Amino acid sequence: MVHSVKAFVFDAYGTLFDVYSVQKACEECFSGKGEEISKIWRQKQLEYSFLRQLMGRYRTFLEVTKDALRYTCNKLEVPLDDQKEEKLINAYLRLTPYEEVQQVLKKLENKTLAIFSNGSRDMLEPLVNQYEFSSLLDCVISVDDIKQFKPTPASYALVLDRLGVNREEVLFISSNTWDISGAKSFGFYTAWINRTGEIMDELGVRPDGIYNDLRGILEWK
Ligand code: LAC
Repeated sequence: MVHSVKAFVFDAYGTLFDVYSVQKACEECFSGKGEEISKIWRQKQLEYSFLRQLMGRYRTFLEVTKDALRYTCNKLEVPLDDQKEEKLINAYLRLTPYEEVQQVLKKLENKTLAIFSNGSRDMLEPLVNQYEFSSLLDCVISVDDIKQFKPTPASYALVLDRLGVNREEVLFISSNTWDISGAKSFGFYTAWINRTGEIMDELGVRPDGIYNDLRGILEWK
């Protein structure tokens, strides 16, 4: 059921920003292993955020990202020196936005627009502020403000607090099925950006909209 919403809230990594540029950096550091490294790295980064949340042992997403990279290089038995670690971590600060981001945010500029991410501010702010569309955003919200990772309900509640809206006034947009499931179970309307033909998780909830790219969310304005 599509209708007008007040706030469009975007996940960052994989939704507004293409994490592929991390793969390029991995390939430059470890020729022939770039794709494998970037996939295991992303999977471990998310897994560590979930496990740390469950254990009550929060560390920032930047620290979790570094831990996941070290695990990945140990697992694949590739040498990670300080110089390569710095290059790969910096790749997260220079991710490329998807080509439609600027035009879609511009068309939504009369709405409340925000990023809500597990990324810590030391990762998000350098990344977002380098692009023109950052001026179209009302705010960038990091879970680091409450030291709880998505998909906990308390993390999504931070969005209501920061934007001063009710949950039914929010369309949450993510490419990550676990994030869509968390946001939907919290009570947001949800738009799953499924660029690569993935299948939805079986977590008892379904997205309100499924789109190949961000242009599809304009039907909610
Ligand atoms: C984000 C990552 C987890 O929250 O996709 O931006």
